[in-house]
Amino acid sequence: MCGIVGYIGSKDAFPILIKGLQRLEYRGYDSAGVALITEASNLAVYKTRGKVSDLESFTQHKDVSGSIGIAHTRWATHGEPNDVNAHPHYSQSESLALIHNGIIENYAVLKEDLMSRGYTFKSNTDTEVLVQLIEYVKVSNNVDLFTAVQLALTQVVGAYAIAVLERGHPDCIIAARKSSPLVVGIGDDEYFLGSDASPIIEYTNRVIYIDDDEVVRLKRDSEPRICNLNNVEKSHEIKELEMSLSQLEKGGFPHFMIKEIFEQPNTVRECMRGRINVERNRVALSGIIDHKERFLNAKRIIIVACGTSWHAGLIGEYLLEEFARIPVEVEYASEFRYRNPVLCPDDIVIAISQSGETADTLAAAELAKRQGAFVYGICNVVGSSIPRMTHTGSYTHAGPEIGVASTKAFTAQVTVLTLMALTIAEEKGEMSKDVFEQYVQELALIPDKMEQTLSVAGYIEDFSSIFTYAKNFIYLGRGYSYPVALEGALKLKEISYIHAEGYPAAEMKHGPIALIDREMPTVVIAPKKGMYDKVVSNIQEIKARKGRVVAIVTEGDTVIRDLADYYIEIPDTEDCFSPLLSALPLQLMAYYIAVVKGCNVDQPRNLAKSVTVE
Ligand code: AGP
Ligand code: GLU
Repeated sequence: MCGIVGYIGSKDAFPILIKGLQRLEYRGYDSAGVALITEASNLAVYKTRGKVSDLESFTQHKDVSGSIGIAHTRWATHGEPNDVNAHPHYSQSESLALIHNGIIENYAVLKEDLMSRGYTFKSNTDTEVLVQLIEYVKVSNNVDLFTAVQLALTQVVGAYAIAVLERGHPDCIIAARKSSPLVVGIGDDEYFLGSDASPIIEYTNRVIYIDDDEVVRLKRDSEPRICNLNNVEKSHEIKELEMSLSQLEKGGFPHFMIKEIFEQPNTVRECMRGRINVERNRVALSGIIDHKERFLNAKRIIIVACGTSWHAGLIGEYLLEEFARIPVEVEYASEFRYRNPVLCPDDIVIAISQSGETADTLAAAELAKRQGAFVYGICNVVGSSIPRMTHTGSYTHAGPEIGVASTKAFTAQVTVLTLMALTIAEEKGEMSKDVFEQYVQELALIPDKMEQTLSVAGYIEDFSSIFTYAKNFIYLGRGYSYPVALEGALKLKEISYIHAEGYPAAEMKHGPIALIDREMPTVVIAPKKGMYDKVVSNIQEIKARKGRVVAIVTEGDTVIRDLADYYIEIPDTEDCFSPLLSALPLQLMAYYIAVVKGCNVDQPRNLAKSVTVE
């Protein structure tokens, strides 16, 4: 969950590390720290509770010289966020300093053993155990740091991306990974480390993705040395990044989230580029075409994901069942991985993840692969762990998503699932030519219709401020609008801290209706197609109990306009494509309510962008 950065070269390391941390701050932001080997050959560690800006203030009059360093922004798992628990952690003799992303699961056993050998601990973290273990292994076996890291990690159970500096060794950073991401950037006579490529892209677009159970040595004037824990050398391809620096900046918007909301017409266009041909009425997703037989013979599709990606998966269920006529189950990856699921060789498992690093989704996909299923990844971050372990897949091409609340990644995931469903339907001959062509033509219009939807942002901003009083919200939708209701509720609770629950509209009368009164706002997603009349009845039921209704309706709808307290129009479209439009006003509403409440929209409390721990 945290962000790690490293630098070794001829430049001043500190400004590079601070900038890198700022780019990674979306991953964790409860404390920050840096370790440098200074010009005076000191192994200096500076760390503080708070944000990267707090670290900058803290280090203002300190010696931050040196051309080698590592830095960390934390999302606490073990030990509260405070100065002591912040990374980097020193070893007992203070000859090593280490940063860590992940969880050392057997830290308690290791700690007890180290304590019996005279090691003492300052922090409550699992991380400090690791740095002490490395020092113990190094001293007791009289080996160099590279070997000590390899040997120590054979004793470790858990997830980690680590980087270590050693006093007296200003020429070398040792790093390693298992289940947490780690990228090496190759510059001119300099190397960078990052949890992802965002701190690196400013300096070089040449990267190496480190694999699980690998240890890397970055040494001045040498090629990176990469070995597994048994010291077998591993060769690695240098990959070229396609990301651009401007994608990592706010571009005039006050927050990344609102920038990303407004990017959606373009990100959906990008996602469809080369995959949909309007003139020839064709849709082709190469991941499917290349494995056509698999999809034609699939008995079942299981979608595994978490959070917003799980909501996209639910929309995928509706699309794939309707278009491709394959039974679909959508599972929380965290449950799937631990419940001994029954999988058959004819099953296709789709893992959906913006980051491509979510620990539960990765583990669920690995389990499915081990049990013989064909695994397809739908991910946004190119080169991340999930796309690297799946049999095949499709990137969503939404560009870097920095706001912790997912917006553009969601609509891009839904777009990929739509393209998948259409491609399979055509290959299987499940859809009449006329209907297929009508869908292709309509899908191609969606980015323009998204633009039209976003044009009402000012109106949403105006009425959103009215709802800052609310403590609770209900979101209702049916069919394709049900997952949108869940997603709308998640967005609101994540960034405004208002409790919100989404339900299938028909479920309301089975319980949630008891909550309705003058104080309770209900957001109803009610596009004209789908089960419109039934949803209108639900709105009547709410109004009869004096509830306040915000409705998302198809433009020109006069029936709901007269019933609802507030209504937001979206352009007319096919029911199956309506989530790509109706999700947008819900994102905007959550954003504006959070802004009026003074919340930190891009970095909401307790959350982190990429959940690389269980
Ligand atoms: C989205 O707004 C959330 N922050 C969260 O639910 C997220 O979607 C979830 O953690 C899954 O992340 P992933 O798509 O990177 O796997
Ligand atoms: N488990 C470590 C800690 O709590 C690292 C957490 C992280 O990945 O930020 O400090």
